[in-house]
Amino acid sequence: MKKIAVCGKGGSGKSSVVTLLANGMRGRGYRVLVVDSDESNPGLYRMLGLKKRPDPLLGLVGGKKNVFRTFSEEPEPSQSILAQEEIRIADLPPQYIVETDGIGMVCVGKILQSLEGCACPMGALSREFLKRLRLQEDEVAIVDMEAGIEHFGRGVETSIDSVLIVVEPSFDSLELADKINTLAAEMGMDNTWTILNKVMSEEITLKLRDELEKKGISVIGSIGYDPDIFQSGLEGRPLHGNKAEKDIEKVLNQLL
Ligand SMILES: Nc1ncnc2c1ncn2[C@@H]1O[C@H](COP(=O)(O)OP(=O)(O)OP(=O)(O)O)[C@@H](O)[C@H]1O
Ligand SMILES: [Mg+2]
Repeated sequence: MKKIAVCGKGGSGKSSVVTLLANGMRGRGYRVLVVDSDESNPGLYRMLGLKKRPDPLLGLVGGKKNVFRTFSEEPEPSQSILAQEEIRIADLPPQYIVETDGIGMVCVGKILQSLEGCACPMGALSREFLKRLRLQEDEVAIVDMEAGIEHFGRGVETSIDSVLIVVEPSFDSLELADKINTLAAEMGMDNTWTILNKVMSEEITLKLRDELEKKGISVIGSIGYDPDIFQSGLEGRPLHGNKAEKDIEKVLNQLL
């Protein structure tokens, strides 16, 4: 269980769940690398309580235009550590990783300008970085995916051990979970679970579990709607929520 991808519908709570998992795993003695693979949303570092966002890994290959050349079948000789066959966390130059005790974060790249072109290079870079990333026994990588399913098309999950699908109480979120579960199975992944999030009552938990189990999707746990998380999100503060932190412990008991 070394590389975990967190995915799901836009706004379902992926980044919040990534943060809760990262804090929970750090609490259990893991060294956590959070990989921000979302090319749009800027605020994950704030949720994690980091002072700034690291420079995008795209800079290590000389920008978007060089990504495909660096990772092509016949690459031009490259000085970039990303072109190495194996990358360890310690190999990353300091400006590309921001750390607080026990949690480090890297950021693949963000769309910064209009008309700069599509985000495919970021997808390819996420895939190749995760493929090459070698983790020690006590290290784990948690990947905050962009919303939706395009990353499956780009094969970002190729080297992922577990897929966690965040499901909020909505029909669309359930439908998307079904789609993601199918796509993950097509990639040969057999460690796919859903995490329910923003659940307001036991009755809703049971209904969501029931719907997902009918679709043959396992539920690993449930995080209740937590006003403290909502408030941290509203104010752009580090994520904090006593209720949700207790709920994620049960998920970690299952996951680990
Ligand atoms: N358990 C929860 N209780 C209350 N509010 C929550 C909970 N989880 C997430 N939220 C709130 O829901 C909103 C979306 O959360 P978050 O940014 O984590 O979702 P996301 O899936 O990463 O979104 P995106 O698709 O835009 O990346 C935020 O305002 C966050 O504070
Ligand atoms: Mg997010």
